[in-house]
Amino acid sequence: MIGFGGDYNPEQWLDDKNILEEDIRRFHEMGVNTVSVNIFSWSFLEPEEGKYDFTFLSSLLDRLYEEGISVNLATPSGARPKWLSDKYPEVLRVREDRRRMIFGERHNHCYTSPVYREKVRAINEKLSEAFGHHKAVIAWHISNEYGGECHCPLCQDAFHRWLEKRYESIDELNRRWNNAFWSHIYDSFDSIESPSSIGEGQNPALSLEWKRFVTHQTIDFMNEEIKAVRKYSDLPVTTNMMYNYTGLDYSRFADCLDFISWDNYPAWGTGFDGDDVLVAADNAMEHDYFRAMKNKPFILMESCPEATNWQPLSHLKRPGVMEAESLEAVAHGADGALFFQMRHGRGGFEKFHGALLDTSGRETRTIKEASELGKKLELLSDVKGSVNKPRIAIINDTQSRWAMEGAAGPRNKGLHYRDNLRRVYLGIRRCGFDVDVIDSDHDFSSYRMLVAPMLYMFRKGVMERMRNFASQGGVLVVTYWSGVVDDYDSIYPGRTPYGLSDLLGLCRAEIDALQDGVENSVEPVLGNTLGINRSYTSSILSEIPEVYDAEPILIYGNDFYKGIPAVTRKGSVYYIGSMMNEDFYSDFFSSVASAEGLEPIMKTLPRGVFVSERIKDGKSYIFMQNFSAHDVVIRSETFEGKIIIGEGNTIRPYGTIVIER
Ligand code: GLA
Ligand code: ZN
Repeated sequence: MIGFGGDYNPEQWLDDKNILEEDIRRFHEMGVNTVSVNIFSWSFLEPEEGKYDFTFLSSLLDRLYEEGISVNLATPSGARPKWLSDKYPEVLRVREDRRRMIFGERHNHCYTSPVYREKVRAINEKLSEAFGHHKAVIAWHISNEYGGECHCPLCQDAFHRWLEKRYESIDELNRRWNNAFWSHIYDSFDSIESPSSIGEGQNPALSLEWKRFVTHQTIDFMNEEIKAVRKYSDLPVTTNMMYNYTGLDYSRFADCLDFISWDNYPAWGTGFDGDDVLVAADNAMEHDYFRAMKNKPFILMESCPEATNWQPLSHLKRPGVMEAESLEAVAHGADGALFFQMRHGRGGFEKFHGALLDTSGRETRTIKEASELGKKLELLSDVKGSVNKPRIAIINDTQSRWAMEGAAGPRNKGLHYRDNLRRVYLGIRRCGFDVDVIDSDHDFSSYRMLVAPMLYMFRKGVMERMRNFASQGGVLVVTYWSGVVDDYDSIYPGRTPYGLSDLLGLCRAEIDALQDGVENSVEPVLGNTLGINRSYTSSILSEIPEVYDAEPILIYGNDFYKGIPAVTRKGSVYYIGSMMNEDFYSDFFSSVASAEGLEPIMKTLPRGVFVSERIKDGKSYIFMQNFSAHDVVIRSETFEGKIIIGEGNTIRPYGTIVIER
């Protein structure tokens, strides 16, 4: 069974016992099989320090079990009770400007504080003891959306100890951080302060190391939470991660979790200038990132069945969009498509946030659509456990992005990293391939093609692994602004992209930043071996390479670098020098795929149609979805196999076809 349901916070209506029964009736009507509870329940579980009361939670779990509904049981560390910070102010976060926060909101605790760790450990152990073997509970939902950072004295001290372990001496740190610049030499680890708007905000290596430390400290905190629930229970653990969140390097979390889960709130109809094909591509890319972390099915832990209440515009989901969004997650490897939230609260910050059930008790459009979705997910039961096995990977490396976006450099008004990444991604998807989106430390060996768009930082070993990949017959695509700096954001001496200029047959000479809206033309070179014969445009950043030994495929059409190659090929190593318009990427990758003998799931798709394939026990499940505004007719030979979802060979907008082979 594919998980279907979502966050359920019934502590908000304890005074009305009928609501739970009414909700359960509706859960069955919609086909709901899983809920996540206890996420923000700490005050109810431990109303006074050390006095636990699990009566409600216990009866809730029993009731859900009777009804055959499974539970992701959360640890409640995402929001703490007031008594905790009143009594122990050290648990309150200190902001980067060194002001300590006061009680309020959530997700704002010091992850270093021994008191906070102790209180969380204590309640987690109690929960584990009480419910770690409860028949309703299928997984531990560890905390909620870890994020943010604390600059308190405890965190400063932990930062120092962490640095001390990483460097042989303070001289070594000064050298790697280039602290001779502005003569900002530190004389001891203890004298280092975390980045601050009232202090050091312009030391790139310090900023990077601080971010690494924040990731380390958050994972350390999470591991303590996991250890506590593991005391009496060996149920799988996960934590719900966020969309395109760069406050943490999520890739480092994967090894500590049994399965990955994440929360997705796409802005259908309004994001990316209302272009839902880009919204769909953006979601898909994020799913592919989270799936690739463990090469295993993940869970879409939260999404919104209706409009959210926190986006700039609470644009209603059009009929069919909720279903398309949920099935898209499944298409990309999710074994669960859950929502935030099951029922609207009557008050509080999120009272206007969408939910499956509202306060009117009516048979709403949402309930009707959710019931249809529930049936489709039921039909997809066999898909559970299958995985996508892409032969192409795109590198999306958080640490490199930290460094690149943190460096005062070629385009401080916006590097358009994510935009470029999405164009590359959509280009490959339009050629009908599944894709993994990976960190640069991820193993490359299962792929035929590796694409490194704007991989500014080559961390230790990355270049060697890329060379190895290419020497084993892999197809390597490297773009502009790659291989510029090392782990500490120091420029690599010699020709760049670091260590690859012989493979590429070129090196970076200059990089030009273009004003927003300004484009250069890019022209095909007659008779190029990729057979590309259309012109394109480039924008944002244009690298000007010095080419010694590569075939020019396209050249810049204007400006003083007119005639200089913008796209090159040397054997199976390709270079893209600028951010091209969207169509370039589908043409380029389809030419490269045929030149290199890569077979897609389905050949050349109309814009907006996405195809992916999940594989299990010799069976393959092909998902086709249409995110364009028009009906799309799929060639009939595509339909070999058993149709699980869909009728006929036309996919309506936001429609889905699933075939089993
Ligand atoms: C996040 C949180 C939820 C809720 C939703 C609202 O994903 O995890 O608790 O606040 O946002 O969209
Ligand atoms: Zn702190």
